[in-house]
Amino acid sequence: MTATELPGRAEVDASIKVVHDNADRFFLWNYERNRGQLVTLYNKAMASQWNSVTDLDWSINVDPEELVATSPQQNATVELARAAAEEPGSPLRNWSEKEFSQLAIEALKASLSQFMHGEQGAMIVAAKIVETVPWIDAKYYASTQTMDEARHTEVFAKYLHTKLGEAYPMSPFLDAQITALIEDSRWDVAYLGMQIVIESLALAAFGRMLRSTEEPLLKKLLRYVMSDEARHVAFGVISLSEYYPELTDTELKERQEFLLENTLRNRSRSTTPEIWERMGVNPDAVVPYLRAAAEKRDLNPFQSFQHGFFAKLVPNVRKLGLLDANNGYLRERWGEAGLLQFEFADDTGSDYESYDEVAKDRAAAETSD
Ligand SMILES: [Fe+2]
Ligand SMILES: [Fe+2]
Repeated sequence: MTATELPGRAEVDASIKVVHDNADRFFLWNYERNRGQLVTLYNKAMASQWNSVTDLDWSINVDPEELVATSPQQNATVELARAAAEEPGSPLRNWSEKEFSQLAIEALKASLSQFMHGEQGAMIVAAKIVETVPWIDAKYYASTQTMDEARHTEVFAKYLHTKLGEAYPMSPFLDAQITALIEDSRWDVAYLGMQIVIESLALAAFGRMLRSTEEPLLKKLLRYVMSDEARHVAFGVISLSEYYPELTDTELKERQEFLLENTLRNRSRSTTPEIWERMGVNPDAVVPYLRAAAEKRDLNPFQSFQHGFFAKLVPNVRKLGLLDANNGYLRERWGEAGLLQFEFADDTGSDYESYDEVAKDRAAAETSD
């Protein structure tokens, strides 16, 4: 880089996003450990922390083409692209297997990039909870979560950087969702948005990627990250179950509106136009063909994913009393959208007790010694 090419102020600023937090910070003088479930969860978190350097084998060689070729499940974007390639006039009609393989690699990189950015958001929100929650046991627990999320951000960034190549930018949808949590003045909304909504989304997305890869490093990384996430969801359920019975109907209504906003009204998921740019295809030119192919074949790439998400979300929202508050305001609306079928689905509120892959691996290593 010559002197004239040194990064200017604008370039430096482009690498930082500034968000203003409107919440009060609480310093507490009561150190009494009187929240037994949070004490148990904190102790569990300390024992189950893993080491991103020594617990994962970064010497494993990853061949991206082989990674996508050996996937037991076809990537949803690739499935849609294959269908779109058959549409008359489609810009993908001359694509060979080589292009579809490259698209699968780009789609994987795009997903891992959103995981990485989302994990950084989780780190910031967990740190916000350390500052803003008025209970000492919750501050201690949120501190362990902050460390967990640092490790998650770091391992996704490292996997992308050392094994796959350049990351994609954060999707505007995820960016807006997390920014709103950081700005909010109410401490519990950070929990509701992160531990209840986004971590349910993350568990569904990580689970889907885990099922669709045979690559050993990525598999282990995802299993370990998911073990931590299961604790984080439990943290949200335990904390908000104590707090929400104290709120007024008006306050509860705001939380119900928040959930509607983050589920039904916000369901349109942004695609990643940059994938097509990297494939040398104009996103505007290909989108109509993708849409036509999806309609004709009744393909909804997000459908199975939505199921995974709501199966984790709805039971926890029920436990918080938010389905039935205000004469079943949320129950009625989610019912109309068909979401009540998930009311008694996955129990992620206590999943962490059984889903601890780190403890399982350690026990197995001990018996084999
Ligand atoms: Fe995480
Ligand atoms: Fe998390």
